[in-house]
Amino acid sequence: MMSLLPLVLLMAQVSPSSAGSSKPDLVRAKRVFENNCASCHGADGSGGKGPSLSVPKLRRVRTDKELELVIAYGIGGTEMPPFFYLGQESLELLKLHVRTLGANATPPLVQGDVSKGKRLFHGKGGCSACHTVGAEGRAYGPDLSDVGARRGSAALRESLAEPNADIVEGFVLVRAVTAQGEKVDGIRVNQDNFSIQILQPSGRFRSFRKDALPELYEYPNESAMPSYKTIFSESELQDLVAYLSSLRGEP
Ligand code: HEC
Ligand code: HEC
Repeated sequence: MMSLLPLVLLMAQVSPSSAGSSKPDLVRAKRVFENNCASCHGADGSGGKGPSLSVPKLRRVRTDKELELVIAYGIGGTEMPPFFYLGQESLELLKLHVRTLGANATPPLVQGDVSKGKRLFHGKGGCSACHTVGAEGRAYGPDLSDVGARRGSAALRESLAEPNADIVEGFVLVRAVTAQGEKVDGIRVNQDNFSIQILQPSGRFRSFRKDALPELYEYPNESAMPSYKTIFSESELQDLVAYLSSLRGEP
């Protein structure tokens, strides 16, 4: 029987990923990326609401197949959406562009001082009253253990200076007023038709029957996080962003 190996090698050579890409492909690839991905990853891929893709090594993706799966099906439980509906040709172009970004990656310009940022986080900022990093801190806001791998530095900066600009999914601020007149402010952790569960900044969970609450308000455009724009100097903000960018815990 003839060995199949040469045939496999031959097929590998003509498969699109190793066929070598022409200049027009690269131009089209860039356009597909700009139309579909730039809103979160930045037009130059340096990141925003999503992480920078201009890096030599992606966190979630090693092989070509994994890259295709992430782009086609998104990443469950995150804001990375699926793009399978764009069709196979566009998916190939997107893979090509992400690979090109990786190959041309330059190390990010770190402006701030990571260790100063870490001190501000635990000290003046009081951030660990609401955020966990690893096993430390209190989980009122999102866990930040890997926030540097999930968000670009522009978005991290915006979280600190303009927290109302873009509220992280699942952290809607609510206020319930009880029949006794008590005002309960916090994050809505859960609700159904009949009940609502609220996490207060103190870490205490409260559960209410909706029909027993005289008033219930939702503030979808208001963050439960204060703005630090005037609390920190420009260089302190840079130090904090540098510290947050360095947080790249395991996925
Ligand atoms: C609505 C925002 C949004 C859009 C649009 C978006 N992404 Fe993402 N993407 C994200 C977020 C957020 C993550 C990080 C998810 C996580 O790991 O928590 C991500 C992660 C990724 C990753 C994995 C990065 C890594 O380090 O492993 C790749 C690759 C990626 N996106 C490619 C794309 C491509 C290509 C497009 C356009 C077709 C696109 N994304 C569009 C938000 C977005
Ligand atoms: C009173 C509680 C509170 C304090 C104090 C607080 N945060 Fe937050 N933070 C939140 C909440 C709630 C959210 C989610 C809502 C939102 O997106 O604004 C959040 C969101 C964030 C995000 C976005 C996370 C993501 O997944 O995109 C970052 C980054 C962040 N905070 C950093 C900080 C830093 C750094 C400090 C200290 C300087 C701080 N926070 C202080 C409550 C707080």
